[in-house]
Amino acid sequence: MSEAHQMIPDWEPTPNNLESHWIPFTPNRSFKARPRLIARAKDMHYFSIDGRPVIDATAGLWCSNAGHCRDRIVEAIQTQAAELDFAPSFQFGHPKVFELASRLTLMAPGDLNYAFFTNSGSEAGDTALKIALAYHNVKGQASRTRLIGRERGYHGVGFGGISVGGMAPNRKFYGSLLAGADHLPHTYNREEQAFTRGEPEWGGHLADELERLVALHDASTIASVIVEPMAGSTGVLPPPKGYLKRLREICDKHGILLIFDEVITGFGRLGFAFAAERYGVVPDMITFAKGVTSGAIPLGGVLVRDHVYDAFMNGPDHAIELFHGYTYSGHPIAAAAALGSLDTYQEEGLFERAKKLEEPWADAFHSLKGEPNVADIRTLGLVGAIDMHPIEGTPGLRGYKAMETAFHDHNIMIRITADTIAVSPPLIISEDQIGEIVDKIKKVLKAVA
Ligand SMILES: Cc1ncc(COP(=O)(O)O)c(C=O)c1O
Repeated sequence: MSEAHQMIPDWEPTPNNLESHWIPFTPNRSFKARPRLIARAKDMHYFSIDGRPVIDATAGLWCSNAGHCRDRIVEAIQTQAAELDFAPSFQFGHPKVFELASRLTLMAPGDLNYAFFTNSGSEAGDTALKIALAYHNVKGQASRTRLIGRERGYHGVGFGGISVGGMAPNRKFYGSLLAGADHLPHTYNREEQAFTRGEPEWGGHLADELERLVALHDASTIASVIVEPMAGSTGVLPPPKGYLKRLREICDKHGILLIFDEVITGFGRLGFAFAAERYGVVPDMITFAKGVTSGAIPLGGVLVRDHVYDAFMNGPDHAIELFHGYTYSGHPIAAAAALGSLDTYQEEGLFERAKKLEEPWADAFHSLKGEPNVADIRTLGLVGAIDMHPIEGTPGLRGYKAMETAFHDHNIMIRITADTIAVSPPLIISEDQIGEIVDKIKKVLKAVA
């Protein structure tokens, strides 16, 4: 029992007990010493437990793309909870999950005509990797077992995701991970790319590193390549011009499946339903989560092209084709929340809105160049990132202080990865609110100088 626990009288589960919750991806002791507690939310704002409105510059965790507690989504969840709370996801179905699969596949480019549902982005990543391995098996190429990811990539926290992921702190404590994973180099080079708006000119050639991995391992051992079209969690790295197209070409040449992890880039973040559309590249699978329900209920999934699905549709009719799935795959309330979210996106034209705001957003955001400690600024769609010079000897401290002061003193929620600030507001943001966010970040930068 920790000392803090001993101080809790009689283990009462009172709201004042901050100790028992082991908070994910958070420095627990710092948080519990000065908590950032949120009581409610509406549209562009959170409200702290002491009633302060806090502008949400991060769409929660890159997910509340329609803003918070939107009527249509709330009603969809409430109605569904009263009508059908759960139906078995294996061997049975319910109408909304089929409707959702149709809607999503219609939104996706090319022949991404099938949807497999999960509960999170991590599960979506692991599901896509498993489908890739199983696909080559059913096609008679069982030697294709290597999974290629990319340095600085993030595909969630399952063993598959961290094996192909490329963020060292997420990997280093977890043993040898999946055998046979390898990594492309990341695409960031400050000397060549600093203060780029949108896709950098430099770096497209880095896709050719896949040829090097093919030469090293041989194509006959490689199942798939997974990348985020824009690397998000590592600190926002937009893809260099031509990079994703080149990856597609090399994968086609060698019979390797290409997976786009669109957990962040999906649902309007880059001005399109999926980044695949923005870049004119149809991957073999797209993983999604977050924005599919505007963050209101957990849901994720994998969109799959015809040739991948078709490869499994053989054997006796009564036999299961893919031994994979989750109790809550396509949960009725999650499906209802997703349909309510897609309706909201469509009726309010939010993807187009994000596209229209990309320029004013970039103009406003890049005006922060020259503020204290700003080493680089990157923008893409409705995403912006600022690399700050670290405090000497204590990397990550300036970033943490920035997030703290932003929330407590400047009424804005920002996200940090080490000393990088990343923001990605709900797509309902107004131009005035863009100005407000940039002004507040300017104050934050000065406060942590
Ligand atoms: C690109 C990407 N993939 C996967 C995930 C994991 O999603 P989840 O946290 O829902 O498991 C994330 C989460 O941030 C992500 O950004």
